[in-house]
Amino acid sequence: MTREGGAVVLDRTQLISTLFALIPVPVAVVDSGGRVILSNSAFTDVFNGIQNLDSLPSQHELEVAGGATYELQTVPLNNQGMKIVYALEITNEVQLRRQAVHLEKMAAIGRLVSGVAHELNNPLAGILGYAQLVSRCELEPSARRMIEVILSQAERAGKIVQSFLSLAAKTEPKRIAFDLNETIRNVVRLREYQAHVENIAVTADFSKDLPYACGDPDQLEQVVLNLFVNAEDAIADSHQRPGSVHLRTFVQNGRIHLSVTDNGSGIHARDMARIFAPFFTTKDRQHGTGLGLSICAEIVKEHGGELYAWSTYGSGSTFTLELPIQREIAPETVEPVRVSEGLALRGKQILVIDDEVHITELIFDVLTRQGARIDLANSAVEALEQIKTKNYDVIICDQRMPGVSGQRLYRLVESLNGDLRHRFLFVTGDVVSTQTKRFFTQVGVQYLRKPFRIHELVDAIEGLINRSQPLGS
Ligand SMILES: Nc1ncnc2c1ncn2[C@@H]1O[C@H](COP(=O)(O)OP(=O)(O)OP(=O)(O)O)[C@@H](O)[C@H]1O
Ligand SMILES: [Mg+2]
Repeated sequence: MTREGGAVVLDRTQLISTLFALIPVPVAVVDSGGRVILSNSAFTDVFNGIQNLDSLPSQHELEVAGGATYELQTVPLNNQGMKIVYALEITNEVQLRRQAVHLEKMAAIGRLVSGVAHELNNPLAGILGYAQLVSRCELEPSARRMIEVILSQAERAGKIVQSFLSLAAKTEPKRIAFDLNETIRNVVRLREYQAHVENIAVTADFSKDLPYACGDPDQLEQVVLNLFVNAEDAIADSHQRPGSVHLRTFVQNGRIHLSVTDNGSGIHARDMARIFAPFFTTKDRQHGTGLGLSICAEIVKEHGGELYAWSTYGSGSTFTLELPIQREIAPETVEPVRVSEGLALRGKQILVIDDEVHITELIFDVLTRQGARIDLANSAVEALEQIKTKNYDVIICDQRMPGVSGQRLYRLVESLNGDLRHRFLFVTGDVVSTQTKRFFTQVGVQYLRKPFRIHELVDAIEGLINRSQPLGS
């Protein structure tokens, strides 16, 4: 800047080169061959060492050391092919895009898992049901032992399937009282196999009289699952064998606590403040999005709780989850009917509707032994014809059937004869879906989960018979 005859004259070259140097956006001038002939300090900071932009891959997105991503834009400068190249940072957009793809993938896997889990409920109901029938026969001690193994393993498989179903279910956040110990058990069941394969010993010390927590048990299950998977990853990272994960629940300062302790890699002091931040991860892209703990922290906060960590780098970490105690709200109200055993079904007319032939046969076998008279239908349409011609004491109906669903059949029967709706007992493998649960709650209909125990089936039918009014009254 100079002063000529009192007027201030700008030195344009100096101004431009100062502005060029000051711009926080990386900018460079390149010749027709892509060689960098001029660049500002932001460019040097980000693309340190890059001399020729034509040598870069043709796509314009560029990931630099440190993990940031830039998009290169060019503007022609003159007719000798020189160009101005500037770079816009798009790290957040790229992460959000990756996250969207990841979530879509997870949603697809969720749908697949819930479909598979649902399909498994039918064969499991058959295995469990017939194993129970056999166990009621006269058996040699060795055969009885074997059948007991089949029974307990089928029940275990049923619980795993149930855990998958509740995990995959997309539900609106609930506000119910729930047992955190049970939530943790579900997670342990889910990871049991993986932990075994990775030689990780899982131990638990659950408070026997843990009060109920309040909120959404499915969301809290996600939190515990995340902590558990993080612990497994840290153990894998440290190559510590055998690995150990210890879960403890207790009450302290009027709050429910869960601590998850692992003997994995531990967390470096410099990372401690960042582990709950979105996108912070020390894992490679295939293994981590860095969103796990930030989502967990958010869920826990919404439940009025806290999540924090303590760690010694090199020897392990403890994550502690704190939740308020819930005293007022009763546990979920919709529960399968449970009435005392012993009331005879003798002479009762029962219709069994299920598209799975072995389920209808199983129920037939069980109930005819109790003296009931059974009709079978393999579809809702078939069932409707039978209901029109016969007076049933109980209608046992599968909820999910091809063609007309159990729910739709219920509505059709209700419009034919309102009294009959009190005689419905649904059998379902899909009870966790919000829509199904809402239906059961709204109409107050009884249901049983597949796979069920024989006494649960008999109890439920007896409960219905006791409760329902005779037709026409
Ligand atoms: N138990 C643990 N031991 C050691 N480091 C841990 C533990 N839990 C979390 N971390 C550290 O915190 C980081 C963030 O964890 P977070 O769960 O948010 O994401 P992630 O596990 O990397 O990815 P994602 O959960 O999306 O798969 C991890 O990358 C890891 O460095
Ligand atoms: Mg994680």
